[in-house]
Amino acid sequence: MSEPIRVLVTGAAGQIAYSLLYSISKGDVFGKDQPITLLLLDIPPMLSILDGVVMELQDCALPLLRAIVATGNEEVAFKDLDIAILVGSMPRKEGMERKDLLKANAAIFESQGKALEKYAKKTVKVLVVGNPANTNCLIAMKFASSIPKENFSCLTRLDHNRARSQVAMRCGVPATYVKNVIIWGNHSSTQYPDVHHCLVKMSGNEVACFDAVKDEAWLKGDFITTVQQRGAAVIKSRKLSSAMSAAKAICDHMRDIWFGTPEGEFISMGVYSTGNPYKVPEDLIYSFPVQIKDKTWKIVEGLAVNDFSRAKMEATATELIEERDTAIAFLAK
Ligand code: NAD
Ligand code: LMR
Repeated sequence: MSEPIRVLVTGAAGQIAYSLLYSISKGDVFGKDQPITLLLLDIPPMLSILDGVVMELQDCALPLLRAIVATGNEEVAFKDLDIAILVGSMPRKEGMERKDLLKANAAIFESQGKALEKYAKKTVKVLVVGNPANTNCLIAMKFASSIPKENFSCLTRLDHNRARSQVAMRCGVPATYVKNVIIWGNHSSTQYPDVHHCLVKMSGNEVACFDAVKDEAWLKGDFITTVQQRGAAVIKSRKLSSAMSAAKAICDHMRDIWFGTPEGEFISMGVYSTGNPYKVPEDLIYSFPVQIKDKTWKIVEGLAVNDFSRAKMEATATELIEERDTAIAFLAK
């Protein structure tokens, strides 16, 4: 067995972490032969709750989990990291404007970017989940300038899985029979779930999604809004945001970074938009279709983009530019 890798989860006393930590610790993400040291960060008022999470992890008696460090101190949490999964962020409270949320989180991700820069390994892979995930990721990346920009990504895999599942349910096939959906842009209601390159296995053959579904109006209408609004729909129903499905998506995202994407398949993740083939504005963390090999992602090139898609890709880019500029203006003050 190899040496343990050091994996940080922030927001470790929260509800996503409660599902996520068990999956990571039992080998679902980094493999059944990879021992793990877990670093768990939360804010000081949550540390007594975090103690309970640590006790439960110990009580799982998981052979791969070699050590657990629970802390409220960034210097301890970010030390020598191989992996950083940044889940913790300031949630939107009643009466809070979007810009208030951006302001609070820009400060958190500035601090965590600096901690990555100072304490983590330069090879660390950083996944940002806490909302607004794309902009938080951009801020952390900007404050960790000696870590390659390619090492940063944000979670849009939950949206990707939602899109895949909606198509699968419509066609009456398992979700694994649906591949190559794309989430473009922001993890917000402006995201664009695109099925123009999606294939569905039907009676043993792979067919284009539009031919499998046979309902263009749905694919260009309710399908898109359902995926865009799914997070809000779960909150309305559960009075809490998605946690089990978010943890599953984090595992899918990280496992693909670690082991690569299957041959012929692409997945969606938010990555830095520099010199990309789809003319997405630069200097954003924007969700693209990517393939991953040797722990390195590459944007899938050569996919045709029609006018319908182009307009939606631009709308979500516009929102990301506004978020970025607002967050940076706060940090400059
Ligand atoms: P939660 O409120 O249950 O837990 C968040 C935890 O983060 C809390 O324990 C809180 O104390 C902690 N925290 C706050 N500031 C912190 C800081 N500076 N350092 C460390 N920890 C800190 O929330 P949750 O349901 O687990 O969701 C976490 C975040 O993930 C939210 O921002 C949510 O909107 C987001 N989310 C993103 C996606 C996605 O697909 N990108 C999906 C679901 C939820
Ligand atoms: C989700 O997509 O479920 C969450 O990002 C929603 C939220 O605002 O927490």
